[in-house]
Amino acid sequence: MVVKLQLPPTLIIGGGASLQAAAEAQRLGIRRPLLVVDPYLRDSQPAALLAAALPTAVFSGVMPDPDLDVVAAGLAALRAHEADGIVALGGGSTIDAAKAIAILATNPGPLSAYMGYHKVPAPGLPLIAIPSTAGTGSEATRVTIITDRSRNVKMMILDGYLLPTVALVDYELSLSTPAALTAAVGIDSLTHALEAYVSRKASPFSDAIALEAGLLIVPHLRRAYTNPQDLPAKEAMMTGATLGGMAFSNSSVALVHGMSRPLGAFFHIPHGLSNAMLLPAITRFSLPGNPERYAAFAAHTGLGPDLLAALEAFNRDLRVLTLREYGVPEEAYRAAMPQMAKDALASGSPANNPRVPSKEEILTLYAEVYN
Ligand SMILES: [Fe+2]
Repeated sequence: MVVKLQLPPTLIIGGGASLQAAAEAQRLGIRRPLLVVDPYLRDSQPAALLAAALPTAVFSGVMPDPDLDVVAAGLAALRAHEADGIVALGGGSTIDAAKAIAILATNPGPLSAYMGYHKVPAPGLPLIAIPSTAGTGSEATRVTIITDRSRNVKMMILDGYLLPTVALVDYELSLSTPAALTAAVGIDSLTHALEAYVSRKASPFSDAIALEAGLLIVPHLRRAYTNPQDLPAKEAMMTGATLGGMAFSNSSVALVHGMSRPLGAFFHIPHGLSNAMLLPAITRFSLPGNPERYAAFAAHTGLGPDLLAALEAFNRDLRVLTLREYGVPEEAYRAAMPQMAKDALASGSPANNPRVPSKEEILTLYAEVYN
């Protein structure tokens, strides 16, 4: 098997790392950055330091589940400023939008032409990614997810040109994350590690990263959720999230993510939450496909001998909402199931699962998880 590993060329990790954005931009030769930033971080210290050092335009129009309109607006802001590089400061949605803007600055598009694997023709503008949540791991992945609302599809684009040039991983930015978001994105990180490890695309390199990610996430997720000021837990979660991103970006995600994206596209459920809703039931289905790998992950990371019970306990303890509790109407859900199953399969992720499902099995799983 030939393994291709792709990671950001530079990662700076630790408390205060985000304050190095301006210095890193200057090192990369960026003279006029576009700052793509979550609205609540517009006036944060890293943003202020960047603006003080370089002529910076600010784009803070990214919503959760960024769509093609957001990307187009960001691209217009970039062109208006004649920006030659991007600094993304925020959650996974902000970093994903910035990645799409960076490649559209140098490629003809449309973005939908790059959906799938390795279709981006040329490198984008340099991108410095600074995550504020722990997290999607987007700062360390070659993946972006952009929603096409006209088709209700979350487009998955994977390409080495989507890797940030620099990742500044600063857990201090995550201290203000609301508890429910800490839970959802934390389970997303755990899902990245687990799916990367059991994926059919796993290699010894992604295994090593995935296991270490799990080892950091499992004992610290409850602590980070319960006490946002638990600094060691927050730091471990941020490191685990970045490692989780590295792991799946160099292996793959699998059926949980494959089924989660359509849920997000149809019912606007945030990415981490829709993964968390699915994780126990989908793992129960997938486990017989490779029980040894699941058991090894659970044993190494401290999830213990009963993996399914451990995942259910996380959802209970972290108060993960069910689809019904979130307000997804049952009738609309049932009506969307066939298209969601089709879109899940079309994404390619289910084919990486240890147990590859048929369309009928995906339909059965969608029915099962509605409660
Ligand atoms: Fe994810």
